[in-house]
Amino acid sequence: MVRETRLSPAGFIYPLFICPGEGVRKEVRSMPGVFNLSIDEAVKEVAEVKALGIPSIILFGLPEKKDVVATGAWADEGIVQQATRAIKRAVPEVLVMGDVCLCEYMSHGHCGIVKKLEGHSSSKAAEGEYEIVNDPSVELLAKTALSQARAGVDIIAPSDMMDGRVGAIRSILDKNGFENTPILAYAAKFASGFYGPFREAADSAPAFGDRRAYQMDPANIREAMREIEMDLAEGADMIMVKPAIAYLDVIAEARRRFDVPLAAYQVSGEYAMIKAAAQNGWIDHDRVMLESLLSIQRAGASMVLTYFAKEAARLLA
Ligand code: PBG
Repeated sequence: MVRETRLSPAGFIYPLFICPGEGVRKEVRSMPGVFNLSIDEAVKEVAEVKALGIPSIILFGLPEKKDVVATGAWADEGIVQQATRAIKRAVPEVLVMGDVCLCEYMSHGHCGIVKKLEGHSSSKAAEGEYEIVNDPSVELLAKTALSQARAGVDIIAPSDMMDGRVGAIRSILDKNGFENTPILAYAAKFASGFYGPFREAADSAPAFGDRRAYQMDPANIREAMREIEMDLAEGADMIMVKPAIAYLDVIAEARRRFDVPLAAYQVSGEYAMIKAAAQNGWIDHDRVMLESLLSIQRAGASMVLTYFAKEAARLLA
């Protein structure tokens, strides 16, 4: 009775990686229990997720082809758009979130359009020779959001960290009759080493450089609050902090300052560490899994994106 935080699957969001093909269920090497799923397999998975009391999923896409304008992200026949239509047809009551980003669809793996800087003579693709161009990237992100909404995505979740993308997405959605489609902004997303296994799962590791020009410095909590403030001013309905366990202070501060629904992303590296230690017999898997999820909720996140959603829901049932 005196317990202050109660863990429940009602706030879980389960990430899915959708790949081309049929009957594909390919386990991600660094994330035991997580798969690349073709659309038919994803539909089965979502039915199971829903039956476990998990209300929501978030979709990531592995396109057939990648290019330098991320065509696969915003095409009406893109992999996430197709998957959304199939999932909403089969399991209409599940809340589908669409991760809006370009990295999985770009041949170079960056979250925006890359421009080569003039005046650099070295032939090696080293840091500093390239630049991410913000505003043209935002245009593609807005296009991606609109095509996802048209396909039936219920909540648009931009994860790219370009400046001004929430405002651009809000405006294109409103102009096209999607004024009731909410935006969950990955508002405080840090440039983190904990994303390693995800980049294998989504085949989205940058081919050169890193994401520090657009993702946040892990040292900065005040800047994180300013990023959140800006996303809310641009029209975000809900906000996210990412990663989770190493950033509980950021979650707690965001909870204290902003009266909007708050999500946290327990990212791939957090999942992989718990899995690996448990496989070695070094920690108690179920206990640490539930403790980590409880801590994220205690810090103030009412919604948790987690690869543990199914396992945790089963234990909590
Ligand atoms: C896309 C994106 C990433 C994650 C979610 N959306 C990768 C990145 O920024 O490199 C990471 C999620 C995870 O590690 O589980 N930009």
